[in-house]
Amino acid sequence: MSSEVIVKIGMLGMGTVGGGAAAIIERSGELLAGKTGIKLALERVLVRDPARSRAVELPSQTYTTAPDAVINDPSIDIVVELMGGIEPARTLISAALQANKAVVTANKDLLARHGRELQQLAHRCGQNIYYEASVGGGIPLIRPLKHCLVANRIERMIGIINGTTNYILTRMALERMDFQEALDKARELGFAEADPSSDLEGRDAAYKLTILAGIAFNCSLGPDDFSVQGISGVTGADIHYASELGYTIKLLAVAEQKPAGLALGVHPALVPLTHPLATVHDEFNAIFINGDLIGEAMFYGRGAGALPTASAVVADIIDAARSLRNGASERPPSDTPSKIKLLPPSALSSRFYVRLLARDRPGVFGALASAFGGEGVSLDMIIQKRRTNGTAEIVLVTHDVNEERFNRSLERVARLPAIGPERGVFRVLG
Ligand code: NAP
Ligand code: HSE
Repeated sequence: MSSEVIVKIGMLGMGTVGGGAAAIIERSGELLAGKTGIKLALERVLVRDPARSRAVELPSQTYTTAPDAVINDPSIDIVVELMGGIEPARTLISAALQANKAVVTANKDLLARHGRELQQLAHRCGQNIYYEASVGGGIPLIRPLKHCLVANRIERMIGIINGTTNYILTRMALERMDFQEALDKARELGFAEADPSSDLEGRDAAYKLTILAGIAFNCSLGPDDFSVQGISGVTGADIHYASELGYTIKLLAVAEQKPAGLALGVHPALVPLTHPLATVHDEFNAIFINGDLIGEAMFYGRGAGALPTASAVVADIIDAARSLRNGASERPPSDTPSKIKLLPPSALSSRFYVRLLARDRPGVFGALASAFGGEGVSLDMIIQKRRTNGTAEIVLVTHDVNEERFNRSLERVARLPAIGPERGVFRVLG
């Protein structure tokens, strides 16, 4: 006798990730039922345009443009939100929880800004929110951090957690592809957000870092609480010079528990070619997590794209279905999260790479050295790289320097008449 349970799903949005989830439910239904005893049935799908062609053909009556037809359908057990953005996703997820449905979402924007409030609402409703797909696409990260590494005091997390920017930087470095061409390709492949400025300006990575740090350090913080720099200022020239110096450029997310507080940030950085993060290419993500018990653990895999992300979504659906069967509701994040002190730039230090355009005339090197030296910034390397029309491109790398002091030295540099306004300034890892 079969003890298979049928679980009915309502989906909000069926674009890249929703299409992937629908394809897995269709193609791997038997495999999932065999492994878990749970049969998934995709009952209703909310979209904007029901006439649009989709990755999977579903009966036309499955589609609706009325949120109520999903949220308030009493036969639906689990609502899967894959629309993205804050509203209407926040309102619809809240309504689904209040209608006694478990919720699965990949929406990092929403979780970074309202995750705590939604998890508390879920708990009050006796339900759970599952969000493995919100960080790292198909890489298991949320569950390992919440469960497998729970006994560890997390000391440091550093990694690449945005697939689109990593795809762009990889193509620029390996094929000398133009920035816009690489972005267009990333969009075509379904990696980029509906508003790709979220990827390019580092906001997407900041949302993900907020979610990870909230779990790892049991704290409540927002994506606006730390410094975020994207990759729109990275040029082909920077990638080229970085490579000459033995580095590649990656968008890094960093969280480090220091004795005086927590250092958090998202920024492009020169990564030594010998560092494992330098070999993380295209839409792949990788994150190192250091715990006091485990030491270092590395998580690596596809961080964006339809099927890898949908793999995590479907795993969450199965988890939700198991909880519905067993009646387990997760403990919500505490009302009184740990007080965490975020360190300001004055408490942080790094090495920096700087690329400047200067008028090619005597005394420029000396003036630069004085501007940096005047703030106590010591230079490790200074190279004049190229001359065109009386202009020299100067690339320099500092020794480890306090960030506030470094910024003051850049202000001095900006006041030098021989130095043009165009520049690239990035941290150097290690
Ligand atoms: P997408 O391709 O833009 O799909 C969005 C879907 O939501 C579309 O089907 C759209 O309907 C529907 N939708 C949007 N606003 C709506 C509204 N107001 N009413 C009804 N339907 C609406 O987005 P995606 O790439 O699949 O991303 C979905 C979520 O997953 C986002 O939160 C994203 O950050 C997250 N995520 C994406 C990836 C990835 O690799 N793409 C990876 C991890 C997480 P129409 O089709 O009719 O326009
Ligand atoms: N736009 C996101 C990225 C999707 O490129 O990483 C995965 O979260």
